Amino acid sequence: MQPRTTALIVAAGSGTRAGGDIPKQYAPIAGKAVLAHAIDALAAHPRVDEIRVVIGAGQEQLYADAIGARMIAVPVIGGVTRRESVANGLAATRSDQILIHDAARPFLPGDVVDRLLAALEQAPGAVPVLPVADTLAEVGDDLGPNVPRERLARVQTPQAFRTDAIRAAHAAWDAGKEATDDAQIARAAGLTVKTVEGSPALDKLTFPADFAAAEQRLAAAMVSRTALGFDVHGFTEGDGLWIGGIRIPHSRALAGHSDADVGLHALTDALLGTIGDGDIGTHFPPSDPRWRGAASHLFLAHARGLIAARGGRIDHVDLTIICEEPKVGPHRAAIRARIAELLGLTETKISIKATTTERLGFTGRREGVAAQAAATVRLPETE
Ligand code: CTP
Ligand code: MG
Repeated sequence: MQPRTTALIVAAGSGTRAGGDIPKQYAPIAGKAVLAHAIDALAAHPRVDEIRVVIGAGQEQLYADAIGARMIAVPVIGGVTRRESVANGLAATRSDQILIHDAARPFLPGDVVDRLLAALEQAPGAVPVLPVADTLAEVGDDLGPNVPRERLARVQTPQAFRTDAIRAAHAAWDAGKEATDDAQIARAAGLTVKTVEGSPALDKLTFPADFAAAEQRLAAAMVSRTALGFDVHGFTEGDGLWIGGIRIPHSRALAGHSDADVGLHALTDALLGTIGDGDIGTHFPPSDPRWRGAASHLFLAHARGLIAARGGRIDHVDLTIICEEPKVGPHRAAIRARIAELLGLTETKISIKATTTERLGFTGRREGVAAQAAATVRLPETE
């Protein structure tokens, strides 16, 4: 039988060097918390059976916001130092082997985990390492002597251990001393720690500039998807209608279960299409009385949230309103500004167009208004 493996993610730090309003592990990269990236990477590995997260006291709400709907065991509360946080996590772990990982390393290639678990069959510990490329030297006020780099390596996480062995090593460690990783603690207890090839993707987010680089790394790995949306609403009696989030005074209204905003409906369907997540009726069934007369910006906000939750970003939306009446042109700028606001985008990413159908067809006969939309989003590549 294969040994049971827990991934223990330490996320109890305060992220002092990274600055920012909230600790770095809860800050978003491409709309998704750093911690959530780390969790998803580990959860995606077939050999990881369980995920435990160690958080700081008082970080409960940040944690809940970061994990969203992910099903994860109740978090463990960490300590003042990383070492104490790991020790608390180890006390809550029953698995045969453990991958101890920094939340601040959001990008974890699966092959690193493959190599670690293979090495763990030969020794009680294994860590990912990378060679040092730069010249290394001691520094005081001025440059001191060089340090030979051939025998040096950068040590990353996750670090893999047999759980009993690392737990005993932590227990034996002199609590008066600090350790920045667990391999150090393992070696002090006499455990053999194998090295496997690490990955540049695993670099820790430590300073503010690391976040911009992480955004770029993710953007480069994203795939672009475009989808269409279409909607029609017929005229009824009334004194105005909603198009693209704007109320337009008119001699008639549009009929519909919600506010019948044909423009926002087409746009919402286009956005849902980019993530292959059904259509507006799937999420807001017309049979549900809750959506009677509902303001359609709620539907758009929902689609925007679903894309953000997948780590996606909206690159561009394009909306065409098709009708003989009312005249949309005078409202085009207001619609564009409103949709930009609803999607949290600059107006340069929003295109609003209007056309008639030369008096042909149902829109030409002034029976209603149609709208079609296209949306382009970038999403993290999942497989
Ligand atoms: N960590 C932890 N408990 C602590 C300190 C750190 O769980 N008491 C975690 C951090 O959340 C991070 C990892 O250990 O995921 C690596 O630590 P580091 O990069 O030093 O993070 P911080 O301590 O949060 O940052 P800083 O040192 O800049 O304050
Ligand atoms: Mg620290």
